Amino acid sequence: MIMLKSRAEIEKMRAAGRVVARALREMSEGIVPGKTSPADLDAIAVRIVEEAGGTPSFLHYRGYPAATCISVNEVVIHGIPDKTALQEGDIVDLDLGVHLDGWHADGAQTVPVGKISPEAQRLLNVTQEALAQGIAKARIGNRIGDISAAVQRYAESNGYSVVRDLVGHGIGRKLHEEPQAVPNFGKPGRGEPLREGMTICIEPMINQGVYQISTDPDGWTMRTADGKLSAHFEHTVAITRDGPEILTKE
Ligand code: MF3
Ligand code: CO
Repeated sequence: MIMLKSRAEIEKMRAAGRVVARALREMSEGIVPGKTSPADLDAIAVRIVEEAGGTPSFLHYRGYPAATCISVNEVVIHGIPDKTALQEGDIVDLDLGVHLDGWHADGAQTVPVGKISPEAQRLLNVTQEALAQGIAKARIGNRIGDISAAVQRYAESNGYSVVRDLVGHGIGRKLHEEPQAVPNFGKPGRGEPLREGMTICIEPMINQGVYQISTDPDGWTMRTADGKLSAHFEHTVAITRDGPEILTKE
């Protein structure tokens, strides 16, 4: 069953979302090329979430061992933060969920480490805009498939591919709730109708090369099958009478 949220509940999710956004910003501002490691960025996130009185949603979720997922270059998603310093030219996906006062919010952004190639920058720009195109369709009267199709159309028309094996999701009192899937590919007019009070995570994962991915022996780290770059942006979005509201904003 899809849990529809009241205005007051959406405001609680927004409070969690503000913490997500602040932590993601401080993590990205904390990156010193050649020095900072994903483990350092994870520690920044933990500090900010704890200062806000929340807990990191991902820690121990299905056995996940960290507060954040930090995915470098060809790692698509679910990179486990380690102590390897980030290098100038890398792109790094920072993904964080926050549980605050009984409610979750989840967001991600892929950021440059120092100066990056124009090709890498274009991938970041297109993935961020694909998310924006999806969010614009998150309106009462539309369906999940309208979001999916908008993301796919924008990404593919720019020459990139859309990861199939991982999708967005409903969110609220639980990190993952119904609708179980908000795909980044699909057909307009299909899928669950969007209703007032639905809260969903839209999170395109866009690849430079093929859309196929593989999972490392650690059971978490997912990387592109061809080793080319991947980017990921995510917002928690509420469907309201006034249109889509991004909750993972400061
Ligand atoms: N943003 C991802 C998601 O919502 C991150 C989940 S990581 C996990 O699925 F560790 F919590 F699984
Ligand atoms: Co998510």
